[in-house]
Order: sequence, then C-alpha cells, then structure tokens
Amino acid sequence: MIRRDKSIIRRATLADVPLIVKVEELSFDVPWPDFLFKAHLNNPGFVAYEKEGNILGYAMVGDSEGKAHLQNIAVHPQCRRQGIGTELLEWCIDLVKLYGYREMILEVRQKKTSSQAFYANNGFKISGTVAGYYVDDDAIIMTKNI
Ligand SMILES: CC(C)(COP(=O)(O)OP(=O)(O)OC[C@H]1O[C@@H](n2cnc3c(N)ncnc32)[C@H](O)[C@@H]1OP(=O)(O)O)[C@@H](O)C(=O)NCCC(=O)NCCS
Repeated sequence: MIRRDKSIIRRATLADVPLIVKVEELSFDVPWPDFLFKAHLNNPGFVAYEKEGNILGYAMVGDSEGKAHLQNIAVHPQCRRQGIGTELLEWCIDLVKLYGYREMILEVRQKKTSSQAFYANNGFKISGTVAGYYVDDDAIIMTKNI
C-alpha cells in the first residue's frame, strides 16, 4: 500500500541493496556486507521502507526453530524517532502471523539500550541472555506473543 506521504513498505529488491547497505553501515559497527543481503532476497520477510526512491529503512524476519525471528532492522539515522521502525516491525509481525507464527524472538546487544527501549516500546519482553553471542558483547533475548 502506498501511503499519502508516498512511502511504501514492500519486498526488498536487488536494486535496493546498495541503499540498504548504506543504512546498514550508518547503523552498525559490524555491518552486514551486500552479499548477505543479496542472499536473503528470496525471503518474503525481507522488506524495505521506500519513500520517493529513497530507502529509509529495512527489516528482515525469518524462522528460528518454529518461532518468527527478527534478523535485522534499521532506519536511516536522519529518519529515526518518526515511527518508521515501528511500522517495519508491525509489517513483519503481520506477515508472519499470516504464516501461522504466534511468537517473535530477537537478539539485541546488551550495550544497545536504545534498541532494547525500542523493542520494549513495541511489547517485547526480556526472556534471557546469551554470554559471548557477539564478538564484543552479550546478547539479550527478547520475545513477544503476536
Ligand atoms: C532501533 C531502530 C530501528 C528504531 O527505529 P525508529 O524508526 O527510530 O523507531 P520508532 O520511531 O518507531 O520508535 C518507537 C519508540 O521506540 C522507542 N525508541 C526508539 N528509539 C529509541 C532510542 N534511541 N532511545 C530510547 N527509546 C527509543 C521510543 O519509545 C519510540 O517512541 P517515541 O519516539 O515516541 O519516544 C533505530 O533506532 C535503528 O535503526 N537503530 C540502529 C540499528 C539497530 O540497533 N537495530 C536493532 C538491532 S537489534
């Protein structure tokens, strides 16, 4: 659906990958390289937030042991705190519900308290930790019944 402000959430395409990588590089200390994004293009849960030809954010959801697993989400730093991340997350939740999933799970760096606040604001609760999950940090596991 194209919104009144001309933004749209839709499946990511090969043409989007360079712009997605730019957002990724502005968002993470250890960004995913382009080949990883390209490898996920056949996943209907890999979506881009586009507005007038620009990619403002993206998200990726897949399966992990029967649970919907949020693998990646990021919004361009200049476009944060405008609800885009929430829209992307809600889009992913609506999609996986169509496939019958009833729980979503994700990992977030222990040091990334801002991202934890984003997930908490969207109804996720801490359900565990994994020591040494990242090269330089532990992971917080967050889950939400959907
Ligand atoms: C996490 C991220 C995707 C959120 O995207 P966003 O578009 O800014 O999020 P929203 O505008 O939908 O935020 C919704 C709510 O989440 C909370 N929130 C979002 N960012 C926050 C921050 N930096 N600090 C505290 N709370 C935050 C707030 O409650 C916010 O509502 P408010 O703006 O009315 O106060 C974005 O900050 C990002 O790309 N971060 C870098 C990549 C990253 O860490 N991804 C997650 C990896 S696990």
